[in-house]
Amino acid sequence: MMTNSWSILLPSFLFTTAYAAIYNDCGSGDYYSSFPTDVTSWSQEEARSNVAALSKSKHRNVVPNIVVPLGENDIFEALMALDNGSMYGMANSTVRLLFSIDEFVPAIPFSGTGWQKEWIWPRRRAICENSLDCVGKDLSDLHNVRPTSQLSKLVRDSKYFASCDLLNHGGGCMSPAEDGSNTTCSCNRAYQPPESQRGEIARILMYMDVRYDGTEEDSEDLRLADCPFNAPYDFAYLSQMIKWHNQYPPSEQEKMRNELVCTDYQGNRNPFVDYPALVSVIFGEPLPDPAAGRENYEVCDELTTSSPTFAPNECDMIAPGDIVFFMVNSDGGPDEVAFWNYEEIPGELELFLTDRPWDGSSFIGGANNEEGTIKLVVPSEGIDGETIIGFGAGKLGGSWAPEEGTFSLAPNGEQIFLYCMGALGGPVPLASIAYGPTASQNTVADRLKDRGAVIIEGPFPNWIYNGPTDTLEKLQLQEASKDPANWNGGEGRATLTSSANSVGLTFAFLGLFAGAVLI
Ligand SMILES: *[C@@H]1O[C@H](CO)[C@@H](O)[C@H](O)[C@H]1NC(C)=O
Ligand SMILES: *[C@@H]1O[C@H](CO)[C@@H](O)[C@H](O)[C@H]1NC(C)=O
Ligand SMILES: *[C@@H]1O[C@H](CO)[C@@H](O)[C@H](O)[C@H]1NC(C)=O
Repeated sequence: MMTNSWSILLPSFLFTTAYAAIYNDCGSGDYYSSFPTDVTSWSQEEARSNVAALSKSKHRNVVPNIVVPLGENDIFEALMALDNGSMYGMANSTVRLLFSIDEFVPAIPFSGTGWQKEWIWPRRRAICENSLDCVGKDLSDLHNVRPTSQLSKLVRDSKYFASCDLLNHGGGCMSPAEDGSNTTCSCNRAYQPPESQRGEIARILMYMDVRYDGTEEDSEDLRLADCPFNAPYDFAYLSQMIKWHNQYPPSEQEKMRNELVCTDYQGNRNPFVDYPALVSVIFGEPLPDPAAGRENYEVCDELTTSSPTFAPNECDMIAPGDIVFFMVNSDGGPDEVAFWNYEEIPGELELFLTDRPWDGSSFIGGANNEEGTIKLVVPSEGIDGETIIGFGAGKLGGSWAPEEGTFSLAPNGEQIFLYCMGALGGPVPLASIAYGPTASQNTVADRLKDRGAVIIEGPFPNWIYNGPTDTLEKLQLQEASKDPANWNGGEGRATLTSSANSVGLTFAFLGLFAGAVLI
């Protein structure tokens, strides 16, 4: 009855042809014909505006982040070619992982239990922020996306890039950040990548800064800064990136990758790989190292604004992904929704389940016959972690009360949110699931974009998580649960067969199964 999604993905990938070269003006002579012989003759402003204009006008193709099936004409496929082990003298069936040192893993499997896509300028810093529609050139820019492992992705976690021995990055520094990567370090707010990758990472961030100025649809003004709290889309640390760039010049592989991104995928180049001298023209010289133990560079002191006072309540303390959807039945029988909660849920907390759409700051529509909200007051003893709770199924399945409108799931597709009320008075989305032909990133709440949202574009009314459960850490399980490849859909109702604990948790479909399924 179960369908293993990998058995579908594997053969389809093998019969896919990679992109052929599509842009023939990528040769650096043609491409840079508008540049002066000596780029350092430009003023800072001339350099920035010319480089930005070229990088933007030549960016002619956008490889979609997610297409179905995964691994065909999407970023996964592009990375298998761009970060192909063969470029490093390794097997052509492998990809190079960023953040690990010289680690090459089989290109398949990817996603789910395999390697992951990592955004060097993180998605959470502007690329997906403040935009309901998480698409756009900045999201898909292949200069900025690399393969990495599940673990590295979680350890790095959208942190600033910095040397751990400069600035006190909120403390908590651990070196190495991961076993075997002895030049890495991870603090509460900063991540120090392996030495051999620092120049490459610096040049990626500089490209993103110059390439994205917020004037295009679905993009923000990305700014690499030394005082990153100063503007909403700042990312850090500029001075350290300038130093890394100077210290670690582009490698042959980095140059080759830059060429391939241009010729085979998107038509533009990273100019800092081609013209290392542009960095000091556009970004100037690095600031002096800050004094030991400081939180920020000295020049930032005058910019520091007092932080707003905000006392989070228990709702605010629930992190995205602490509760994830595990099952939904909307076939016309009784509606059933189940979640898996990783952490203890405090007693008396009010949880809300709604099928009203989220507009970025609140739930809209509703209070009519088609959409509504139900409420669960968590019993005073709280709910233990690692429990299946739900509506109509699982623990407390029968304890929800109507709150407003009618909560009623549509078999042909729906988006459901679980939320609570934060200290600022507004709803705090905790988890969401969207399924059906129109399910998309567009309507996911920003705070759930990295963790906590499941999006399944499939035709079925009933869905259940069928991915790995017993061999992974919490953070890996959170990743797995949002991967559509780990969900089974059907016409028959999904049924929880065990609610014991995370070890050996099993799920099954009962009733008729609608043939071959899944994305
Ligand atoms: C790696 O590159 C080789 C040669 O270009 C290609 O045949 C192979 O399919 C690539 N590997 C993957 C996993 O895409
Ligand atoms: C990939 O590597 C295998 C094994 O080394 C080799 O037989 C094959 O020709 C390579 N394919 C390409 C396209 O380079
Ligand atoms: C880091 O690892 C490399 C390779 O494993 C080794 O040669 C080097 O001595 C190590 N450096 C430190 C500081 O432990």
